[in-house]
Amino acid sequence: MGSKPSKRKPFTTLSLTFLSLTLLLIIFRSFRWKIEVPRKNINSISVRYPEWYRIIAQELAQKRIRVGLVNVNIETSEDIGSSFMQGEAEIVKVNFDRAADHIQWGHLFPEWIDEDNPEEQKCPEIPMPRYNDYGEFDVIVASIPCPIGAEKGMGIRDVFRLQVNLVIANLLVRSSFEYHEYEMKFVVFLGSCSPMWEIFRCDDLFWDDGAWSIYRPDLRRLKQKVLMPVGTCQLARPFAESGQEGWRRYALNDALYQPREAYVTILHSSEAYVCGAIALAQSIIQSNSSKDLVLLADDSISKKSLQGLEAAGWKIKRIKRIRSPHAAKGAYNEWNYSKLRIWHLIEYDKIIFIDSDFIVLRSLDEFFVYPQLSAVGNNGHIFNSGLMLVEPSKCAFQAVMGKRFTMASYNGGDQGFLNEVFTWWHRWPGRVNFLKFFGDSYDLIRPKIPMNLYTIHYLGVKPWMCYKDYDCNWDMVGFHKFASDLAHEKWWQVYDAMPKKLRPYCELSPRMDARIKKWRGKAKNASLPDRHWEIRVKDPRRHA
Ligand SMILES: *[C@@H]1O[C@H](CO)[C@@H](O)[C@H](O)[C@H]1NC(C)=O
Ligand SMILES: *[C@@H]1O[C@H](CO)[C@@H](O)[C@H](O)[C@H]1NC(C)=O
Ligand SMILES: *[C@@H]1O[C@H](CO)[C@@H](O)[C@H](O)[C@H]1NC(C)=O
Repeated sequence: MGSKPSKRKPFTTLSLTFLSLTLLLIIFRSFRWKIEVPRKNINSISVRYPEWYRIIAQELAQKRIRVGLVNVNIETSEDIGSSFMQGEAEIVKVNFDRAADHIQWGHLFPEWIDEDNPEEQKCPEIPMPRYNDYGEFDVIVASIPCPIGAEKGMGIRDVFRLQVNLVIANLLVRSSFEYHEYEMKFVVFLGSCSPMWEIFRCDDLFWDDGAWSIYRPDLRRLKQKVLMPVGTCQLARPFAESGQEGWRRYALNDALYQPREAYVTILHSSEAYVCGAIALAQSIIQSNSSKDLVLLADDSISKKSLQGLEAAGWKIKRIKRIRSPHAAKGAYNEWNYSKLRIWHLIEYDKIIFIDSDFIVLRSLDEFFVYPQLSAVGNNGHIFNSGLMLVEPSKCAFQAVMGKRFTMASYNGGDQGFLNEVFTWWHRWPGRVNFLKFFGDSYDLIRPKIPMNLYTIHYLGVKPWMCYKDYDCNWDMVGFHKFASDLAHEKWWQVYDAMPKKLRPYCELSPRMDARIKKWRGKAKNASLPDRHWEIRVKDPRRHA
């Protein structure tokens, strides 16, 4: 009898052990099931799955995966064994006509377009797939063409490469917004040619194997890009018209989410532009903008100047300036790459960068809806980097910084460099960055500056480096192209409207004044026919 309890005890222990083991197993299995099921199935049918497929299958758990192939040949690609996903995934080759050979980059990025007549703006046709034939994809597998013959140090400007990138982006956006708006989508880039980083942001890189990479795009940002024209052959369209508001609201899954946006300028290497930056801040405030104002300053800007800049409305951020690798020592543009620091302002989603030799006449706040990189044309296919929309990001900052040694710059400055880094950009109307420039001809009849300008960009001698009632650009024949009494006057209207305590930052030093007088003397001596040198200057800033 005494054996009974002793027999019973092991039984209880055993059953308890068994129970807890089962429980553990269930827990363990359910845990495994969540993350490992695709891998398990893959092993059980023992087919060689590409590594990228395993990774994505894990992310998309228990879903039947639909793969679209773009510019990938099923038969010849080692990465896509045609048998490998039978029953588990569906593979569809996406067809589209290649853009006609005669379409060159310059056709997509012409120097000039008729901005006043939107119906006259035409872009060459870049064929896209017939989306309705394909339906929804979970994954796009693509191979990006590597154009040969891109000059060393130059950005790639290749129509077919752009076409392939846009096909992928459009398929992803259509697969999400027309079906399940905020689902996960992936794109796998096979081969060594990277996608265009203007379209597939480095922030969205999900996995990098070297031989291939996986991106998980932020679909809302991608949608903004596919809503842009294929090039600057048309003005960028504000996508507020096409779902931007929805994008904003959901951006952080928060109904109260406000995008973080700011105007940014930079002062480095000398104090020559302190007054300009003060007038710029004041002009933005006078335009009733509600955005933050951020000024990056290196240590050449004195404490006193910083106080004035702060009083004018700027939030100050100290930076270390960045040397231009292609500029000569002591050259005027030696430190222009300091501007690259704007990509490091990751506390903002978007910034509009403005050089300090601008004033804003009309609020630019509505332009924050555009994606990176939006700007105004300069000449040829390049944009003017004096005013541009940028999306700060840690990896973009690193990428831009890294490229500065390998990429050339046609002018040694940031504009030449940035135009090689962002070859695909979006065109804003010229009146967003109105260059105070009136052509090379020596004409005395100045065209009136257009109405409804958003800004004036003061090329040539800056207004605060001259007299209130006198545009010094008249005094040098080579600078006549920058001279305009009317544009000059606009700057001084901002000055007149700003608090008096800011005026001391716009004084003329005796040296500056002497220089102005010297050039006026020369103009008078040469009897320059515009006869501006006859004007009796009344500006109280002048010295005796
Ligand atoms: C800014 O707002 C004020 C007051 O509402 C208005 O008088 C002024 O015209 C506005 N300025 C601009 C540039 O819109
Ligand atoms: C470079 O920076 C200097 C000083 O800030 C400025 O005067 C000049 O316009 C810039 N040049 C270019 C090419 O960006
Ligand atoms: C005026 O011009 C003449 C001839 O170009 C030159 O010889 C003279 O030095 C100039 N005088 C002044 C004051 O610039």
